[in-house]
Amino acid sequence: MRIGVLGATGPAGQAVAVQIAAIGIEVVVGSRALARAEETVAELRGKWPGRDLPFTPGDNQAAAQADLVVVATPWDGALSTVAPLEEDLAGKVVVSMANALTRWGRDMVPLVPPTGSVAVALARALPRSRIVGAFHHLPAGPWGDLDHPLEADVLICGDDRAGLDEVARLVDRLPGLRAVEAGGLASALAIEALTPALLEVNRRYKTHAAIKISGLPES
Ligand SMILES: NC(=O)c1ccc[n+]([C@@H]2O[C@H](COP(=O)([O-])OP(=O)(O)OC[C@H]3O[C@@H](n4cnc5c(N)ncnc54)[C@H](OP(=O)(O)O)[C@@H]3O)[C@@H](O)[C@H]2O)c1
Repeated sequence: MRIGVLGATGPAGQAVAVQIAAIGIEVVVGSRALARAEETVAELRGKWPGRDLPFTPGDNQAAAQADLVVVATPWDGALSTVAPLEEDLAGKVVVSMANALTRWGRDMVPLVPPTGSVAVALARALPRSRIVGAFHHLPAGPWGDLDHPLEADVLICGDDRAGLDEVARLVDRLPGLRAVEAGGLASALAIEALTPALLEVNRRYKTHAAIKISGLPES
């Protein structure tokens, strides 16, 4: 099993990459520029010298060769990133964690793409891939800290049963996280739009909020 991360040089992609690598899964750290991927791998290894982190730096096309691929670019770069990789991503689970949002005055506000969500836009661009939404609400800073696992739920959504199961198994293996199924890909609209509200919680309470769902049966 190898997992590729597109745009892994940003805070969100680094957090995903380091958490997955820390549980022993090989991660292809992708970027538009191989040199930036190499720098990111060196930085992450330098930050966690005692950890065995199975990283391979690559460009985004190299990352798209992995078995499961996470799209960790800004929302407005996601389509142009995946479109040329349609063939490489065919048949694979592609995880969308991008949130369409912008700043309006001081506030972070949601933007609704014409397809309703970034995840649905990816599904349109990648008709042969199995799109699953996940990781939207995890604050990258604390999530990227391997010494202090972030305790949070990860709302996952998608229309591909096997893809949802695969992502849920991955999430449940990551320290502190629990996967919570939140519906089909249509739910991505609400999941993505919640993120700017969480960012406002962060700003107002000077924290890094994550979500926990109450009332679920014990598993
Ligand atoms: N930051 C968080 O706490 C957080 C948490 C959950 C979800 N997310 C979501 O995760 C995604 C990434 O967040 P981030 O904060 O890591 O973003 P970011 O730092 O702005 O971007 C991540 C990486 O994407 C690549 N990139 C930037 N602009 C691009 C473009 N126009 N086209 C293609 N690639 C581009 C860059 O990598 P290269 O230059 O190396 O290609 C960049 O390092 C966002 O959609 C965000 O909503 C973020």
